[in-house]
This record gives sequence, C-alpha cells and structure tokens, in this order.
Amino acid sequence: MAEAKVPPYPTQQTESNDNKPKEKPLLTRRDFFVRSNAGAVAVGMMTGTGFAASLIQAPPKPAAAPKPTAVPPPIKTRKVTLDIDGKKYDCNVDVRESLWETMNYQLGLSNCNQGCDRAECGACAVLVDGKAVNACTLLTARYGRGQKIVTVAGISKGPGPQGLHPLQRAFWLDGGFQCGICTRGFIMSAYALLQTNNNPTTAEIKEAVSGNICRCGEYPKIITAVKKAAAELRGEKVTYAAPLPLVTLVAATSQAAPPANAVSKQFEFATALGTIEQFDDLSLELKEKPGIVGLSGSERTITVSWDPGQLDEGKVRQILSESGHPVK
Ligand code: FES
Ligand code: FES
Repeated sequence: MAEAKVPPYPTQQTESNDNKPKEKPLLTRRDFFVRSNAGAVAVGMMTGTGFAASLIQAPPKPAAAPKPTAVPPPIKTRKVTLDIDGKKYDCNVDVRESLWETMNYQLGLSNCNQGCDRAECGACAVLVDGKAVNACTLLTARYGRGQKIVTVAGISKGPGPQGLHPLQRAFWLDGGFQCGICTRGFIMSAYALLQTNNNPTTAEIKEAVSGNICRCGEYPKIITAVKKAAAELRGEKVTYAAPLPLVTLVAATSQAAPPANAVSKQFEFATALGTIEQFDDLSLELKEKPGIVGLSGSERTITVSWDPGQLDEGKVRQILSESGHPVK
C-alpha cells in the first residue's frame, strides 16, 4: 500500500535576544488540551440533552437540524510588564501561557530548561520574590505587578568564569552535572536556600532541592557543590577537584590535611548497601564527623581513615553503627 504523505508539522518563528529565531509549534500540548477539553464539554452537553429528551418522551419531531460545530473559546490576552533579572519586559500574553513559554517564545530568554512541563522535575525553577518556583506551571498573566523574577542568568556578577556566582562555579568545577538539563533548576533552588542559610547541613540541602530531579544521578556532587558554594560565600577558601583552566582562583583548602599518623582500616558492612549511591550519601554524612579524615569503599565494604588523636577503632565502629550501617 502506498504510504500517505504526512505534511510537515506547522511552526511559526519568534525572535530571540541572541537574534536566533526560535520555533514554536502552532499547536502546542497546552493548546491541544484546551481544544480537547472544549470538544469534550460540547459532546457532554449534546449527550445530556438527548438523555433528558428521552425521559420526557416528547412527541416525534421531524429530523433534527444538524448541531452546530463546537468552536474553541476565544483566546484572551493580557498586557504585563515582567521584571526578569532586573530588566523590564512589556509583553502581551495569552492568559493560559506559562512563564517558561513567555520567556522562551516571546522574549528569547533561555535561562531555564523545560523538562516535564508539569511541575515534577524542577528543571525550569526560577525565583519569584525570593522563592524557587516552577516556571512551567506559573501563568505569566499573573506576574506583571512588580514581582521580581530571577533566573540563573541574573545571579552571576560579571563576565567570564570569575564573574560566576559561587554556586555556578561550584557546580561546574565539582562536576555537579552530566547532561545539564537539571542544573539551572538545582542552582536556583540552592540559591534560594543560601539567601537565608549560609551554612546548610546535608539534610537542609536535600530538603531545599527536593523538588528537583537529576536523571543522571549526580546528587552527591550536587550536595558537595552547594556546600562549597556556601563555604565560599562565608568567606572561606575552597578547592575544587577539577582545575579551572582559564583563570587562577584564589584557592586553598577548607578541609584540614589528614595528619601524617592517620590510621586506616577496611570494614565490612553487616548488611550490604542497596546501591553505590547509598555509599555516596553515607560518605557525605561521615565526612562531617570530627576525626574522620578519609573514606572510600563500595556497597559491601568501607575504608575509614581517622585521626588517632580524636578517634579509635571502637569510636569509628560506633559512628558507623549510629549512621545506620554497623560493620562486622
Ligand atoms: S519542566 Fe517545570 S517542573 Fe519540570
Ligand atoms: S545532569 Fe542530567 S539530569 Fe541532572
């Protein structure tokens, strides 16, 4: 059978800030749902009318005239002035349009990523009046009354790597990303946290980014990056695993070098961990314990290095046990 020719998907072009036109589908997923809903309502009304008519058993009528075809409701628009990263943008927006859509399709601002478009992944997170929110599910029409919107592009202080916000630099240099889809959202959620807490614990960081998902599973490095950024913001000096090739950062170490007489021992977990990611989490927790100067291991074993001036093997075993992972 000959193949039917499928016409190309219709698109329209919009201008972007960097002069690269973006393509927006003429029929978006949002439009599709709106139109489907209108159709469903029309079908429901027509069905209900027929049911009621059958109950009162009206006398037979001549053939009914064809029902008028349901038409989608008129699209309403609203004028708003958005304050994004300190700059004002006058726009005329569809009242059903999300902030992410306005920023990308109207303003050409690709400052946040879209992952799920349904408030599940946090990739699109921006700050509105200091709170991290999902731009994919905010209606732009509600944001023209002076609210301050901040994106990842608005937190850097100047050009080049030196101008990056400490969070951006820490994510980059500590490798808190792989594909990068989630990174802007994580940075904005962490940024909101650091505005009110410059020395967050692991638990507080996890809570702050609990609305963000990283499909690449870079959680341990993300948490480390947030801690290093917090340390830098407190005025401490930090080092990164990866060198910064283009600039020389003022860098030292925030962790004391292990003492020359540090003791190391490998232990076997009484119950093996479920995944290696669990080991990463445990490792982050144990590194905060005074006296522990090094850790490595796997799902089955853990090698702990400690300062004998502060700990001995019994205390190390006790720390492991209190963390929920006793060793043999
Ligand atoms: S794209 Fe907005 S939460 Fe996933
Ligand atoms: S780095 Fe790929 S989803 Fe997080």
